[in-house]
Amino acid sequence: MAPRNVTRARSFEELMETVTPVLSVGSRITFETSNPPLSRISTQKSPQRSVPIRDPTLKTGVTVSISSSKDRALVTFLGAIADLHEQDIPDGVLKEFDHLHVSSYFLQQRLRPGCRKLFARAGRLGLTTSLDPGYDPSESWEKDLLQTLEETDLFFPNEIEALAITRAQTPEQSLRLVANGRTLTVVKLGSQGCVAMREGQLLHQPAFPVEPVDTTGAGDSFNAGFLHAWLRRLDLPDCLRFGAACGALSTLKPGGTGGQPDESELEAFLSKIQIVS
Ligand SMILES: Nc1ncnc2c1ncn2[C@@H]1O[C@H](COP(=O)(O)OP(=O)(O)OP(=O)(O)O)[C@@H](O)[C@H]1O
Ligand SMILES: [Mg+2]
Repeated sequence: MAPRNVTRARSFEELMETVTPVLSVGSRITFETSNPPLSRISTQKSPQRSVPIRDPTLKTGVTVSISSSKDRALVTFLGAIADLHEQDIPDGVLKEFDHLHVSSYFLQQRLRPGCRKLFARAGRLGLTTSLDPGYDPSESWEKDLLQTLEETDLFFPNEIEALAITRAQTPEQSLRLVANGRTLTVVKLGSQGCVAMREGQLLHQPAFPVEPVDTTGAGDSFNAGFLHAWLRRLDLPDCLRFGAACGALSTLKPGGTGGQPDESELEAFLSKIQIVS
């Protein structure tokens, strides 16, 4: 589910002031950092490798997710999220990887103007690229994103984001409007699953039937599952299925990452679903 109520806090203290009244009326609240400390970003390929910090005085960004069965609000202290710059990621670091994923495009205030250049550079170095726009707290949904997509392999908006970015009325119309001859776009539809377009044909993957506890982070888990399959060159319907399975599993535990499956949990879930259907 997409947040309809997104607030930005200027400091961690302000963030706590914003969320404390909610705590006092008894709602359940989950804390997650939307960005790990930059000093600790690492990869499977070379776990020791870390992205150099440009300014060690920067604080890690934090998002508080206030989730109920009816709606959800996210309050973010941007911290280092807003300070990352395209040039903070030199070719030497990119070369260590196969794929580059950028999320929360509209929160990445310094990265955003250089994101197209970063993706073009990554592409020249042999990496594939993907982008999850996330919600735009300013709600202006500026068109620079469409230019960034010209250098992007995979685009993962949810329905609200896709409609706002393309000014479309339906997910299908948004897929047609965003088509640029290069980017494969998947629109995530929450409990309705997801939809993509291949050679003008719509492909719909229904959501797997689960009883969600908290949908925070389902979109990011979907991205991870889709990428896991896509990087292994599985067919598009399988990529959508892997994404939907990870999205569904992520809703079963509170918080953004608690329900993310590992590879064996994902395979067990998919084979159980196959037997049932
Ligand atoms: N209630 C649900 N039941 C089953 N699957 C779900 C449910 N909600 C989400 N999913 C799965 O997860 C995918 C991504 O969820 P969603 O559409 O909410 O993304 P999102 O809005 O980007 O999420 P977020 O930004 O909160 O991480 C959906 O396409 C669907 O496959
Ligand atoms: Mg999302």
